[in-house]
Amino acid sequence: MTRQFFVGGNFKMNPATLEQKKGLVSLLNEAKLDPSTEVVIAPPFLYLIPLVESIRKDIKVAAQNCYLKNVGAFTGEVSPAMLHDAQVPYVILGHSERRTLFHETSELVALKTQAAIDAGLSVILCVGETLQERESNRTVEVVNEQLDAVIAVLKESDWSKVVIAYEPVWAIGTGKVATSAQAQEIHAEIRKYLTQKVSPTVADGTRIIYGGSVNAGNCKELATQPDIDGFLVGGASLKPEFVDIVNAKA
Ligand code: G3H
Repeated sequence: MTRQFFVGGNFKMNPATLEQKKGLVSLLNEAKLDPSTEVVIAPPFLYLIPLVESIRKDIKVAAQNCYLKNVGAFTGEVSPAMLHDAQVPYVILGHSERRTLFHETSELVALKTQAAIDAGLSVILCVGETLQERESNRTVEVVNEQLDAVIAVLKESDWSKVVIAYEPVWAIGTGKVATSAQAQEIHAEIRKYLTQKVSPTVADGTRIIYGGSVNAGNCKELATQPDIDGFLVGGASLKPEFVDIVNAKA
């Protein structure tokens, strides 16, 4: 199966001002983007609705998180149903910053994934190991454990709504990108695991994207790897070079 190349921009808690956000939107609206790549950008919650209205229609918008219930007394949370109602088609779940700073367990991430899909959203599901886990040769075990929780709750048909982002924690925001061989190895392991635990069809069809210090200089080489189906970009998604990353396969 041919998997459509996917590039996501995770703005995280940036930019600091509305003016800067407008600059990013104009840049993308005017850029020449490879039409065969699916492009999704994830601003902070506050900017989602204005972005849905102002961004060109071939770029989709994602939230960076959501809760697992659709309505109720959950102060500070945003529900999958609200995102769907606001015409936000994607949500990022399980990002390492959520897992580490906000203590989200793989079980919680799995419940959120299920809730998001049930509400009609697609999910960019993040997995990845810390430096300590890599150095103790536990990368595949850790990533598989993170996937296990999600595999336990999803139906086979739900996987068409999932993009897996492999993001080694040691490569996020550090400038230390995984080599294309390191990334390819883990992407292939993830695909093998999906074959065993879900189905060969799901393994073949699911996009597995890489995140961690991707930039204009390293994206083309990473994109040559057979199991790297795109990128989840943090810092570089706030800069003009994001356009080059979107066009990595062009
Ligand atoms: O979600 C994106 C990742 O955390 C990667 O961030 O490109 O700044 O390393 P980065």
